[in-house]
Amino acid sequence: VIGQRELRRWTSPFQVAARRRDNPPMPENTPWWRHAVVYQVYVRSFADGNGDGTGDIAGLRSRLPYLRSLGVDAIWVNPWYESPLNDGGYDVADYREIHPQFGTLEEAKLLIEDANQAGIRVLVDLVPNHTSNEHRWFEAALAAGPGSSERDRYHFLPGRGEHGELPPNDWKSVFGGPAWTKVPDDEWYLHLFDTSQPDLNWSNQDVREEFDGCPRYGRDRGAAGFRVDVPPARVKPPAYPDVGEDYDRHHELSTGAESPMWDRDGLHEIVRRWRSVLDEYDDTVMIAEAWVPSWDRLSLYLRPDEYHQAFDFHFLGSEWDPSRISSRIKQAVEKAGSVGAVPTWVLSNHDVVRHATRYALPNGIDSKHWLLDGDRSILDTDRGHRRARAAALLMLALPGSVYLYQGEELGLPEVHELPTDVLDDPVWERSGHSEKGRDGCRVPIPWSKDGSSFGFGEGGSWLPQPEWWGDYAVEAQDGIPGSTLELYRDAMRLRDEHLRDAGDLTWLDDGDAVLSFQKGDIRCMVNFGDPIGLPDGEVLLASEPSDEGRLPTDAAVWIKTA
Ligand code: GLC
Repeated sequence: VIGQRELRRWTSPFQVAARRRDNPPMPENTPWWRHAVVYQVYVRSFADGNGDGTGDIAGLRSRLPYLRSLGVDAIWVNPWYESPLNDGGYDVADYREIHPQFGTLEEAKLLIEDANQAGIRVLVDLVPNHTSNEHRWFEAALAAGPGSSERDRYHFLPGRGEHGELPPNDWKSVFGGPAWTKVPDDEWYLHLFDTSQPDLNWSNQDVREEFDGCPRYGRDRGAAGFRVDVPPARVKPPAYPDVGEDYDRHHELSTGAESPMWDRDGLHEIVRRWRSVLDEYDDTVMIAEAWVPSWDRLSLYLRPDEYHQAFDFHFLGSEWDPSRISSRIKQAVEKAGSVGAVPTWVLSNHDVVRHATRYALPNGIDSKHWLLDGDRSILDTDRGHRRARAAALLMLALPGSVYLYQGEELGLPEVHELPTDVLDDPVWERSGHSEKGRDGCRVPIPWSKDGSSFGFGEGGSWLPQPEWWGDYAVEAQDGIPGSTLELYRDAMRLRDEHLRDAGDLTWLDDGDAVLSFQKGDIRCMVNFGDPIGLPDGEVLLASEPSDEGRLPTDAAVWIKTA
């Protein structure tokens, strides 16, 4: 928990006065997204314009000045389409309509216009692996029955066992439980996520054609690009082979074991087709949310005729350890470069435990499982906060683009204490209550120190906010030198001035406990060990006050060396 006192303690003597950045023009011929800072808006939880307790487009529009003052180049908006919201909107019932809770298509267009006016591009989410079970296609498939062309758009199969009472194979849903659900006429449909998210069959022509239209539709309404949901799931082998009892998706991700339903080579041909649609438009970007075991696999998605970018979840998943972090950075830079792409850094998103909390736990603790019933006494909030600030300076100094998750600029930790009876994430039920799910990183943003839902809106908040939430509010940090908000603002402004176009980085040796590199005229140092002396140069920004001229533990600094 931070209050004003602690915020003052974090005030850095080096810190430059907060200045607002006037979006500078990009150098000619550099696609904007190659060096962009994109801010992820989980619209349900960002700002509530109509006081119904849920964030919406009106709320987001009203906060554009805030995003401009932060200095972001673009926003990525999580799905805002028509949906029963069983999986927060990743269960899309109509890809061409906005959910009334979030607003209207007209408002979405106005948002995009206003954002563009403010120099901020807008990326939207595309969810092509599955629809909602309330999508007209799925309803038609249920009505049409086995063997129909309507069913062929999904994966419908007869069951196994004497009377088809067993699922067609042993695949499991990512959220827990079997990946198959039986319908009244005894066929089963595949859903790698929630039961309400039937997987589409991408060998079906209707499916391909429909999704050629989606990027066009979005682009024609002003979207500058697309974040694509779970690309590695797109292709399933027609034989639907069993994976065996011991199959474990997390094991697969950590070992690189092959899987019949993830990361199949055949999906790249689908991506190429999409990319050719996007290439009808100038300057459009497509980002893959690809959880794959290695950078060798990830780089395949980044070939010149596929995705422009892919989140580097290896960086996100790294423990607070200098050699692990630096080896992941080196790998990302090298492998992305090998296919002509740039790395795309991310520390938090709406699916993972916020990094201020991950870093507050000892290395080796699985934060996702810790959330449910882990020992709270091992949580060191202050340490997590310091490390999160240092990590921000590290990430914003790296080559490539950066995705920030709403609230990280406030230093928000995970709300790990959400009572289980308020949980909304389907993971909680699907996992048989063995995983708490992702709600703790989706709690609505605190804008003011107190008042109704801490300034989120006039009508409460769809997830409860903890009483200490106001300590992290925008109001508590705005204009306060050394606050995390001002650290991010300064970092983004200095990134523009010194780092964005400075080319490659050169690694430096400042000892085993220090991650250190030079980029342009900036030396970035992150100290994982005991306080260390600083080299010559002007300290432009530091994540912590200096410790008698030394860089403290768990702190980062940008030094102008030339
Ligand atoms: C992606 C989304 C996640 C969603 C899942 C299923 O991983 O980021 O929130 O639950 O896909 O669509």
